[in-house]
Amino acid sequence: MKNEKELYEKLLNIAKEASKTSYSPYSKFKVGCAVLCDNGEIYFGTNIENASYGLTICAERVAIFNAVSNGVKKIKAVAVYTDKKDITPCGACRQVIFEFSKDADIIYNSKNNKIKVTNIKSLLPNSFCCKSLK
Ligand code: THU
Repeated sequence: MKNEKELYEKLLNIAKEASKTSYSPYSKFKVGCAVLCDNGEIYFGTNIENASYGLTICAERVAIFNAVSNGVKKIKAVAVYTDKKDITPCGACRQVIFEFSKDADIIYNSKNNKIKVTNIKSLLPNSFCCKSLK
């Protein structure tokens, strides 16, 4: 779908912009994320590190928590940008994405600077959700 491709390119560009404000003095690994919500709104975030390394938070979770803080309950797509290319969300972020969408598209930049699209269902198979407790 042409419109979807344009939208996903726009989302990845917003993620790229967000990566510029990365606070990553320890890893020097800049990550940006943009989240497209069900209501059409877009929120972004970047990774924020800490001298106490474990307190570091990924760009994806900053973006999603920003969306949720603004009243969002459902997301449609998550774009992640890094200079290193072919990076998809870490395991913890996959679980957080899954909380707010069982079917989110995940957009990222590939090695040849092409846009790649996968889905949370592929990245997090047999996922844990509350139904798993029943
Ligand atoms: N990072 C993210 O922001 N997102 C990911 O999906 C993977 C890792 C950040 C955390 C840390 O600041 C740096 O990248 C190196 O792990």
